[in-house]
Amino acid sequence: MTEHVKIAVADNVLRIQLARPDKKNALTNAMYVAVGEALTRAESDPAVRAVLFEGEGDAFTAGNDIAEFAAVAAGTRSRSDMQTHIFLEALARGTKPYVAAVHGLAVGVGVTMLMHCDVSYVAEDARLSTPFVNLALVPEAASTWLIPARIGYARAFQLFAFGEPIDGKTAAAIGLVTAALPAAEVRPKALAAAKALAAKPAGALQATKKLMRDPAAILAVMAREGDAFGHRLRTAEAAEAFRAFAERRAPDFTKIQG
Ligand code: COA
Repeated sequence: MTEHVKIAVADNVLRIQLARPDKKNALTNAMYVAVGEALTRAESDPAVRAVLFEGEGDAFTAGNDIAEFAAVAAGTRSRSDMQTHIFLEALARGTKPYVAAVHGLAVGVGVTMLMHCDVSYVAEDARLSTPFVNLALVPEAASTWLIPARIGYARAFQLFAFGEPIDGKTAAAIGLVTAALPAAEVRPKALAAAKALAAKPAGALQATKKLMRDPAAILAVMAREGDAFGHRLRTAEAAEAFRAFAERRAPDFTKIQG
């Protein structure tokens, strides 16, 4: 267990709070395991009828912990030690309604996990970005399929290839998330939505979600992305990107052959 994830059940809602605010809730291996296992447990827990994701501090999450990526890139940690898949596969298989409350920043997996949330409220001034290519990586969480499906290829490619943030208002306008709200309203609205979903007939809700999503297809995309991701982590491009982050400078990819 890690202190960086807070988990509690109240009013039939499982609240999962990312709680590593000094690192903008960047997700470590231990955090992926804690969240993934909580989601898996929730599937067989009748007390859980909806799940709410939120972040402590001033960000939802800055995405995967880059130091952990860097350790794999440097060979000091094995790719097989990475437990991201426990979280991603739980998201893919989840049958209960998932709600997200996003404020501040959502980077990388902080955005791609929203493609597995049935309802996502974001602050109007939140900044959402998917800078996988900027880190010399590829997108994950089946987002190469799910994001184009939500917003179309052209907008999805723009998000992935340029990696520039969009604000919450834009994210809602293009259909990436459910709605954008003033920041102070995001958490109460998301909690109210989770409680409202928890009060619905669970069988009908789960049957509807099942008809709208295809876990086997999602898992197949995740597996394909995972292969490419694992390869990319070991490239000279990725090593330069992670070094640059640690040294707080812009990366220079121009002397590296893809
Ligand atoms: N992994 C590890 N540490 C991270 C992190 C990440 N993804 N994102 C932020 N942090 C850490 C910073 O290193 C810093 O730690 P320090 O105080 O020990 O130096 C702390 O969190 C605060 O971040 P900082 O960069 O000072 O805040 P900021 O407001 O200036 O910028 C971000 C916030 C999110 C824009 C910036 O930190 C960033 O670009 N992070 C990387 C995001 C990313 O690429 N994620 C992976 C996506 S696949």
